[in-house]
Amino acid sequence: MQFYLDSADFTEIQQAWELGILSGITTNPSLVAKTGEDFHSLIQRICDLVDAGICVNAEVLALDAEGMVREGEQLAAIHPNVVVKIPMTIAGVQAVKKLCQKGIRTNVTLVFTPVQALLAARAGASFVSPFLGRFDDIGEDGVAALEDICDVFIHYDISCKSIAASIRHPVHVLQAAQAGADIATIPFKVLEKLYEHPLTKQGVEKFCADWAKGKG
Ligand code: G3P
Repeated sequence: MQFYLDSADFTEIQQAWELGILSGITTNPSLVAKTGEDFHSLIQRICDLVDAGICVNAEVLALDAEGMVREGEQLAAIHPNVVVKIPMTIAGVQAVKKLCQKGIRTNVTLVFTPVQALLAARAGASFVSPFLGRFDDIGEDGVAALEDICDVFIHYDISCKSIAASIRHPVHVLQAAQAGADIATIPFKVLEKLYEHPLTKQGVEKFCADWAKGKG
């Protein structure tokens, strides 16, 4: 499973990029709005920071297919790393088809069921993003939905990749990996936690203390 960062905060993105484990970044309109930055310049800056081939996901705001295609083309023109995020609606899936025909990669977002994921994949989406946390929030099982999506994709040998999104805690990351997600997109605070274990901390402290004793 690959790790993406789910953030639009440039300082945070720089810090996470330095960790050396990221294969992509996902942004969404809520995250971008929080920064107060110009959307296209922010996407350009992120693309300039990361290596070639790293996916930088930027979401359209239009609600009609024509508008989504227009915005998608503008976003894709910013940099070859850009993947256009499209919401899972009828118009969204129509836009995915058109963008795919133009050679533009898309990530269909706000996916909650295997059938939504299948529709997106059949329209030519390169990625689908099932939201774990938001599904859990309404008393459903986000991880079970992700497992079902992975099974359906394997069953039909579908090349569209699954991005486990709306990740709220480290256990979601483990569950996404166990479900067979291709990618997990993770907020910085959760990403940092993945490195930590009390026994690791304790072990490092003991090694240092023993070394200091031996040398004394
Ligand atoms: O980027 C989409 C997604 O990861 C949102 O997460 O926590 O707002 O449900 P959340």
